[in-house]
Amino acid sequence: MSENPLCRVCGGTLREFIDFGRQPLSNRFVTPETLPKETFFRLATGICESCTMVQLMEEVPREEMFNEDYPYVSAGSKVMREHFSAIARRFLETELTGDDPFIVELGSNDGTMLKTIAEAGVRQLGVDPSDGVAQMARDQGVSSLTAFFEKSTAEEVLAAHGHANVIFAANTLCHIPYLDSVFQGIKLLLADDGVFVFEDPYFAEVLRRNSFDQIYDEHYYYFTARSVRELAARYGLELVDVERLPVHGGEVRYTLAHAGARTPSPEIDRLVAEEDELGVASRETLDAFATRVMTVRDDLVRLLRELRDEGRRVVAYGATAKSATVANYCGIGPDLIEFVCDTTPAKQGRLTPGSHIPVRPVEEFHASYPDYALLFAWNHAEEIMAKEQGFRESGGKWILYIPDVGVH
Ligand code: SAH
Ligand code: TYD
Ligand code: ZN
Repeated sequence: MSENPLCRVCGGTLREFIDFGRQPLSNRFVTPETLPKETFFRLATGICESCTMVQLMEEVPREEMFNEDYPYVSAGSKVMREHFSAIARRFLETELTGDDPFIVELGSNDGTMLKTIAEAGVRQLGVDPSDGVAQMARDQGVSSLTAFFEKSTAEEVLAAHGHANVIFAANTLCHIPYLDSVFQGIKLLLADDGVFVFEDPYFAEVLRRNSFDQIYDEHYYYFTARSVRELAARYGLELVDVERLPVHGGEVRYTLAHAGARTPSPEIDRLVAEEDELGVASRETLDAFATRVMTVRDDLVRLLRELRDEGRRVVAYGATAKSATVANYCGIGPDLIEFVCDTTPAKQGRLTPGSHIPVRPVEEFHASYPDYALLFAWNHAEEIMAKEQGFRESGGKWILYIPDVGVH
């Protein structure tokens, strides 16, 4: 039996560079009944020595993560709602102006992006395996197919609806280990002059910001312009544009077209050069990242223990998937954090995966401000701090751990 898995994209050798140990499924918030059945896997990432794709060393079966109980909803952030309505409007003004255009979204979730398209009367289809959130999309008038997108799904969609002028995926492509089947499907489904646009956390930004909690079970891949350019080319597609996005701690929006169909933007070479400069694939950079992560863990645990020993009240803000990595890697449980507040109904009343901290509605945070709030949803810092000014006015302080541990 081989020790390490091979690269899921090219079959190359993977070099592991960080290991978070035994971790639960990041979005499986537990109840007293499901607690004894909690499952764990080894969370570690490696880089392909051939194509530079960064990926997990161990894969969690997709049905265990994405099913009718999947709790994450896109609409939980105002900034994200605005972000998605902006890209939808841009598609309506650019790619979707022809005769009876058609857009397909992979990982359409609660329909936050496609809602704007549906309201404009343009044909749309969301594809998402998580039926609870897919139903929320349908309730808003968005066509939604409950399925894992892969080659066979593309064939079905093509037969039923024809080619797509736009295929869009936000924070979804990085969730899909079986990209071979997905890219074959995209190649089939995409109209001759169509675009496949996807946006995901940017690995260069993970290194730059030390945002190690972007690493969790659902995030199988960590893309760079270089690795995406190479991936696209394997399927007769071409990377034609890249755009930096401020959301979710720094992402890149990649635009792909059929090879030769569009002129690639000079931005691509510029971004690849920047990645080389940063050394995103170098052993030194990746080892230094792993060392910095250990420092954050030690600093955060020390701070939380000091606050507990001083009798301070500490709660956490945002029951993010990302925070499963932080809490379980650092060993942070209900002894250090009283509760985590979150607006998502499907998370409230449950316990955080692995670390078993109670999740409560945000109203409980407002009802009695703690001394400190650990900002698990650090990627929404601006939005949250702006609306929670009362907390600071009450003397409360935010604890951040990205890029390093600090009290603000
Ligand atoms: N696009 C939304 C949701 C991201 S969460 C946003 O950016 O806010 C990731 C979503 O991808 C989940 O809703 C999950 O059910 C879905 N997903 C996972 N695997 C998928 C696949 N193979 N095809 C389509 N959707 C998938
Ligand atoms: P997010 O960081 O978007 O993603 P992930 O789970 O993939 O790490 O999750 C944000 C969480 O924080 C989500 O559960 C909703 C919650 N939240 C609030 O409770 N209040 C807010 O104002 C915002 C923006 C998010
Ligand atoms: Zn590879």
